[in-house]
Amino acid sequence: MKIVHEYYEVIDSTNNEIKRRGAEGNAPEGLVISAGSQTAGRGRSGHAWDSPVNVSVATSMALHPTVAMEHVPRLTLIAAMAVASAVEQTCGLKTQIKWPNDIIVNQKKVCGILTEMSASKGGISYVVVGIGVNIHKQPYPPEIADKAISLDQALEDAAKDPSLFLHPEEPHRDRASRKEVDYAIWENFARYYDEFQKTEDLSGILEEYNSRLVNRNRGVRVMDPRGPYEAVAVEMDKTGALVIEVNGERKTVDSGEVSVRGLLGYV
Ligand code: BTN
Repeated sequence: MKIVHEYYEVIDSTNNEIKRRGAEGNAPEGLVISAGSQTAGRGRSGHAWDSPVNVSVATSMALHPTVAMEHVPRLTLIAAMAVASAVEQTCGLKTQIKWPNDIIVNQKKVCGILTEMSASKGGISYVVVGIGVNIHKQPYPPEIADKAISLDQALEDAAKDPSLFLHPEEPHRDRASRKEVDYAIWENFARYYDEFQKTEDLSGILEEYNSRLVNRNRGVRVMDPRGPYEAVAVEMDKTGALVIEVNGERKTVDSGEVSVRGLLGYV
């Protein structure tokens, strides 16, 4: 894939810009739109996503995957892995993943991912993967303050508790770079995506993903619309479903149907 980066100081939403280009037939695979701030950033489930000036990465890529339409949601998991690797590469911080796609640093979430698809009877017209990463410190709204963290805050925490670094003995930076994180994410993504296009499943990232799974072999509360219940999270399988154990029996749950929480809190 050829990655072409375009940068706007201010935009409504980087996902929207890819959609506008896509509607004009002008969103080639690998086109990346990033912005210093978004005036109408969007999150999952119709929520707004706050992107104040120059404190976060707000970035989206256009894709034309050849996989079956029902496999497109797997791209969100690939994007999560790309972010986790980028955080480790650029900041040296240990990352974990809360299934399906929350990247956790020091027990808190650093990023959000919104994948959208435009399709017709003829198939997929384009997909946009949008990623927001908290880079510099900012005040978070009270409802997410105990769950969200920026990479700068995590670097500050790690300076006091070096076990948060992958290689505590090495020297570390004290501030993250928006541009470096942005570019590293898409480099990683391109690598994982090429493999995914061949297999259509997540076998290419599975081992690395599961080694980062924060709830692995731990108790979780499964938030099933028919009623929450407790289980042990085992691993993600190559379709992206979570394998859990309930009363000694294994079953899989899908991220479209349920979410999971730690028994003691967010992770
Ligand atoms: C979430 O709700 O967790 C997903 C948030 C996704 C935010 C990113 S920021 C870049 C891109 N543009 C948007 O409008 N949203 C995504």
